[in-house]
Amino acid sequence: MKDDLYKKYIIDFQVNLLTCKSLGKGHNGIVYMLPEKKVIKICFSEKSCRNEYYILKRINNNKYFPRVYGMSGNYMIRDFVDGITLKDYIKKNGLDKGTAVKVIGLLKEFKKLKFKKYDIRCKDIMVTPDNTLMVIDPKKCFSKSRNYPQHLCKGLYNLGALDIFLNVLHENSPELYKKWNDKICKYISTRICI
Ligand SMILES: Nc1ncnc2c1ncn2[C@@H]1O[C@H](COP(=O)(O)OP(=O)(O)O)[C@@H](O)[C@H]1O
Ligand SMILES: [Mg+2]
Repeated sequence: MKDDLYKKYIIDFQVNLLTCKSLGKGHNGIVYMLPEKKVIKICFSEKSCRNEYYILKRINNNKYFPRVYGMSGNYMIRDFVDGITLKDYIKKNGLDKGTAVKVIGLLKEFKKLKFKKYDIRCKDIMVTPDNTLMVIDPKKCFSKSRNYPQHLCKGLYNLGALDIFLNVLHENSPELYKKWNDKICKYISTRICI
């Protein structure tokens, strides 16, 4: 399968993008659906494509991230991730304890993977139909230093879910709560003052 995909999409590039459904667009590129439950991400620059590809390659096979199957120039082939973003999930359902525990599990995985950045945005986490979490857009995980989940908590705050998250963090991982709580509260309060 891996070799077939490599031949089809990297060596031969047998794909007519006009027939592929567009899944979304971000600052760095556009993503289209491919037939084999894979996607093609076409980046606006080769550099951002390379950076993102090597992050995914380095952590390839980790259960929280899509697998990659090859890149060439400014595009890469990776697994399709079904589901809705954590942001939309919380808007629809609120933040339940089980999901909060999973988010904490994801942040702990970042530590295991030796990321320098313990942070992720709610829009870059997908909740799949079987309620597992996947990261779709890993950015600067090994290059940007951040020792607490700043943007995640800002997003949760805006969704009215930060209190629940911090309560679950306190109960589930008191050591992380102790490390992060003051930083989170300080960041959120300065954002509110602005
Ligand atoms: N593996 C994937 N499976 C399903 N949808 C995806 C996948 N990767 C990206 N998308 C969709 O495409 C959008 C843009 O992709 P993303 O990787 O976030 O680009 P950018 O780096 O430009 O922010 C995402 O917000 C999401 O909606
Ligand atoms: Mg994105």
